[in-house]
Amino acid sequence: MREGSHVIVLPFPAQGHITPMSQFCKRLASKGLKITLIIVSDKPSPPYKTEHDSITVIPISNGFQEGEERSQDLDDYMERVQTSIKTRLPKLIEDMKLSGNPPRALVYDSTMPWLLDVAHSYGLRGAVFFTQPWLVSTIYYHVTKGSFSVPSTKYGHSALASFPSFPMLNMNDLPSFLCESSSYPNILRVVIDQLSNIDRVDIVLCNTFDKLEEKLLKWVQSLWPVLNIGPTVPSMYLDKRLSEDKNYGFSLFDANVAECVEWLNSKQPSSVVYVSLGSLVVLKEDQMMELVEGLKQSGRFFLWVVRDTEKKKLPRNYVEETGEKGLIVSWSPQLDVLTHESVGCFLTHCGWNSMLEGLSFGVPMIGMPHWADQPTNAKFMEDVWKVGVRVKEDVNGFVKREEIVRRVGEVMEGEKGKEIRKNADNWKMLAREAISEGGSSDISINEFVSMFC
Ligand code: UDX
Repeated sequence: MREGSHVIVLPFPAQGHITPMSQFCKRLASKGLKITLIIVSDKPSPPYKTEHDSITVIPISNGFQEGEERSQDLDDYMERVQTSIKTRLPKLIEDMKLSGNPPRALVYDSTMPWLLDVAHSYGLRGAVFFTQPWLVSTIYYHVTKGSFSVPSTKYGHSALASFPSFPMLNMNDLPSFLCESSSYPNILRVVIDQLSNIDRVDIVLCNTFDKLEEKLLKWVQSLWPVLNIGPTVPSMYLDKRLSEDKNYGFSLFDANVAECVEWLNSKQPSSVVYVSLGSLVVLKEDQMMELVEGLKQSGRFFLWVVRDTEKKKLPRNYVEETGEKGLIVSWSPQLDVLTHESVGCFLTHCGWNSMLEGLSFGVPMIGMPHWADQPTNAKFMEDVWKVGVRVKEDVNGFVKREEIVRRVGEVMEGEKGKEIRKNADNWKMLAREAISEGGSSDISINEFVSMFC
């Protein structure tokens, strides 16, 4: 490799994007590349080195003044982020060139496609990074090509959607923004725009692995220079004998690791339901109550992540009154939890990182998708990979307590549960294979690195 080969990595500022892209940086660093990871943040600060000497982190502003309230308007937020990056990035690239450390590529988040032209205008190769799987990006692609039209309503719609290499999809299996386009027109624009210039991109990276989306892989590779490099979970969690550092990149939240692990240590193997709906899902109050009651009536131990902003929806004194039956935390060390032997199943919103983590650790899942890519991820989880079940919603998208109780029972015990555990073990092995030396994702990462030799 050429001495000092150097790439810039720039994730969108959300946990579900920062986590996989910063983990990807570690894989690149372990293969000898130098990395500058640019984090768009509320708190810009001077550059610093991570525990990996070859990764430098540069936190830059998201365009809001210190203390200024962050806008809820996505268009405004995206515009500020874009302006801030366009102001800072050229100068950073020039400085890197002057210091004898010129970057050769910009790896940028797919939600910021305009970064391709920025990369090219400074002589860098543009590598787009999709943090979501092909099973959703290809649906967005069909929309951009006009081969699928966005339906006007979500529920009460009996039509099925058919895409090449997909199982038939019901309307509520589609990425939500397609079916709720009138509620989230600006988010729909962002997700569709991800594909707007993909035909001009030099390298297309995706946090998935070949076997997981085998049927789609041939098709996407016939269109674009695709490299699947996932799952981006640290390999030490797949093989606890490894001594790689446990830091899973940059977290916007803090977890009390000891509290969770000690609590789990006190429970029997496979006895706990782990509940987490990721970093963004906001539940309606009545849905939160159904979950409270569903978990209680399931009679199982549970470890439940309820972010601070969601806590006010819990019944008064709930945390104290739950006693030994449940531990409620604001944020968990999710990888430590999912790899703990006491965890018997994962009630998840089916965010892509959580899905990959559940699959990689062989944890049976109960999908309770909320929006975005989650319904489509849930469909594949239940019907294609067969590693869990999806809760049934009523016509208003509401999940009743009885359904939660039924699904917890189904996955934690009985014949279906056994079948799911067997499949989950198989996917765990395949995920491990993909990122091990000589596995499909490891080969893809080597290929990426060799482009800069
Ligand atoms: C968002 C979208 O909601 C999701 O649909 C999309 O696929 C990615 O971006 P998010 O909702 O945060 O992400 O979910 P997810 O993709 O699952 O990412 C959450 C990450 O936070 C995971 O890596 C998970 O391990 C971590 N996490 C979550 C914790 O470490 N502790 C927690 O308590 C909860």
